[in-house]
Order: sequence, then structure tokens, then C-alpha cells
Amino acid sequence: INLKIADTYEEMSREAAKIVITQVTNKADSVLGLATGSTPLGLYEEIVKTNKKKEIDFSKVRTFNLDEYYPIHPEDPYSYAHYMDVHLFDYLNLSRKHIHLPDGATTNVEQECRDYEAKIKSVGGIDLQVLGIGTNGHIGFNEPNHYFEKRTHLVDLNQETIEANAHFFGCSSKVPSQAISMGIASIMEAKRILLLASGKQKAEVIEKALFGKISPQLPASILQLHKEVYLVLDQEAAASII
Ligand code: F6R
Repeated sequence: INLKIADTYEEMSREAAKIVITQVTNKADSVLGLATGSTPLGLYEEIVKTNKKKEIDFSKVRTFNLDEYYPIHPEDPYSYAHYMDVHLFDYLNLSRKHIHLPDGATTNVEQECRDYEAKIKSVGGIDLQVLGIGTNGHIGFNEPNHYFEKRTHLVDLNQETIEANAHFFGCSSKVPSQAISMGIASIMEAKRILLLASGKQKAEVIEKALFGKISPQLPASILQLHKEVYLVLDQEAAASII
């Protein structure tokens, strides 16, 4: 694991942006795996800022998001599809047909999950996967479980996860109780992984994920087995490991 501890959230975001931008400039047709939630907001802001003069070419880049609520319409302001548009995609010269998120409005979830995996495969897999981490150790929406969910699947969100995302919706009763998420194998097949964590509420889970037992009870612990992980933390998230 390549570990970088930044002083602040802003510095963490800048470090992360450097990694993503270098990926895209080194390989114009990069396949990026992307995350939502609070943590990568600064990263996306940095990318947009660095790209102010539109000098970074995203025209050949493909993106695959980790997850989407279910059921939710992509145009719903609370959907991750909408989140990605307003925080990142609208500012880049990304081709619309290169943007992928699980379809929260699908009428056939199983088919959608299979299709999503097939699309990732058809472009040669993910070059760089951005991840956040839940306080319970989830990555994507792979919640603690008795086994590692391998592939894109429908998930029942934990109450803890629903509460953690309530601030986006105004109240927890509005948070959908399910999501479609890439699985652990989908994530582990990414060539490189960029895991971000910020804030003292993530300190304990970061320590467990890095040094604890590898277990589906703490899904992020599987990252110990990945060959190329870049972990960028702010001071607070690093508090238990320094
Ligand atoms: C988001 C995702 C989740 C979040 C995690 C942390 O696409 O897959 O795993 O990364 O819940 O969320 P924040 O960043 O809001 O603390």
C-alpha cells in the first residue's frame, strides 16, 4: 500500500486529484471507477479547478460509478447520476456515451447487474478505481456480511449507511433502502485503487482495514490483498495509525 497522509481535507483532495489526472494524461482512454458520497467532493472540485482551461482531455475516458440507489430515476436530484453531473461530469469534455452508472430506474435488476459487469469487461476493466470507506468498513455498498459479494448486485443498505447519507436527503426516511453496487471482485479487478478517507470518524475503520483480519465483516480489509492501492488520508483519518 502506498500511503500518503495529508494535513487537511483540501490537501488530501489535491493529492488524489494528482493521481487521477496523471492517470488520464498518461493514458488518454483510461477507464475510471468513481465513487460518490462526501469524501470525493474535494477531489472532483480539484479536478474541475485544474481543468478550468479545459486542457485535460477526457474525450476518450470511460467512467463507471461504483453504485446507485435503487429505485431512483437518474434525473432525480438525489441520484448519484445527478451528483456526478453537477460535481464533475458537466465540467469535463467527457462523452455522454462513455459515462456509466448502474441504472436505478431499471425494471430488471438482475439483467442490469449482468450488463454492468459486461460493460466493464468490454472496455478491458477499470484502470483506476476511486473509493471512499464507510465507518462500518463498506466499500461501494458492500456492507459487512458473511461472505464477499463478488459482482454487481442489489444491496439492502444498513441503517448506519442510511443515517450516514441522510444529510444529502434532508432526513433518513427519504434515503432509498436499497442500492445497486459493484461487488468486491469487480473492485479488486481494478488495476489501481485510490482509497480516500477524511475525518476522525474514519480513523478506527482505517486502522482495522489496514492491519486487521481480512474478513467480509469489514469489506475494505480485502484491499490488503490488492497489488496497487494508493491510500490518501487526512490527519484525522490517520489518527489511529500514526
Ligand atoms: C459511494 C460509496 C460509499 C462511500 C462511503 C463513504 O459511492 O460507494 O462506499 O464511499 O459510504 O461515504 P462518505 O464519503 O460520505 O463518508
